[in-house]
Amino acid sequence: MNQKVSLTGIKPTGMPHLGNYFGAIKPALELAEKYRARYFIADYHALNTIRDPKMLRDLTYEVAAAWLACGLNPEDVLFYRQSDVPETFELSTILMAFTAKGLMNRAHAYKAMVQSNEENGKDLDFGVNMGLYTYPVLMAADILLFDADVVPVGKDQKQHLEMTADIAQVINANYNNKLLTIPEAIFHSTGQVVQGLDGRKMSKSYNNTIPLFVPEKKFRKIINSVVTNSQGVEEPKDPEACNVFALYQLFATEEEQAVLSARYREGGMGWGEAKGALFELMNEQIAPMRSVYDSLIADKGAIDLILQAGAEKARDLASKKISFLRKEIGFA
Ligand code: TRP
Repeated sequence: MNQKVSLTGIKPTGMPHLGNYFGAIKPALELAEKYRARYFIADYHALNTIRDPKMLRDLTYEVAAAWLACGLNPEDVLFYRQSDVPETFELSTILMAFTAKGLMNRAHAYKAMVQSNEENGKDLDFGVNMGLYTYPVLMAADILLFDADVVPVGKDQKQHLEMTADIAQVINANYNNKLLTIPEAIFHSTGQVVQGLDGRKMSKSYNNTIPLFVPEKKFRKIINSVVTNSQGVEEPKDPEACNVFALYQLFATEEEQAVLSARYREGGMGWGEAKGALFELMNEQIAPMRSVYDSLIADKGAIDLILQAGAEKARDLASKKISFLRKEIGFA
């Protein structure tokens, strides 16, 4: 086992879908086999948009249960809630003093908000809270607090990681010392783009997602809604041009793929049957995880215990880092 640290933040935005599973969850869990992993729920980042306490709590449980059900082992992975580690906020305040306002002005999410205000003839600051504006600083604090070496994220987080490195370098240069570890982004393999129900990239904004854990009946219904063409049962079909087959490939062995592919090409198989095969295969693999998910959601106390234990360990590491920084800076 590598002694290097892998860290990532998970925003509690609701039930992960298959695109999240193959694109983020699975690769992060694989990375956890090689690195000392620290994965946390970024609930303070979510506070910028979620102001309903029940909703925030529910979404947090949902995402925690989903990651645990997908195989996150809290014995191996330090798993905690960002809000349980107040050292994050102390470091965030320290980082503020070294973060140029101009750097924040360039952040994509902030710029997009300003641009949309401009287009809509609104005040440029409309809807921009300081949490959004300083989002990259809080994210830098998450990362730098735990001396992360690698940060597995989607490509959309590239700029945030560059900003983290920028801020850390300013501090390291100022103290003529290596106070902070400069992290490196690891982008999830782009090889495996997961297609949604309509064949476009699976994404909440396209409304074409397949949620990871829903009751079996509902899951079957969703799989039946995968978009296909209007070819009749008897017609030979092209697996390479089919949304059902694209999803099948994510779960099937080479052999299983070859078998279904031959069935496509020879004709005589209708879309209902192809979807049935897809459902059976997916369900077989997802059902065991789903039952873990269901039992966790039914026993939130168990999730609390896991997150509390994670918070304790995380605070132990974080408070050591903060004491060190306080000394170096001249607070102590
Ligand atoms: N900004 C990330 C996202 O939107 C979530 C996040 C917060 C994060 N803090 C982090 C990711 C630290 C990696 C490291 O997905």
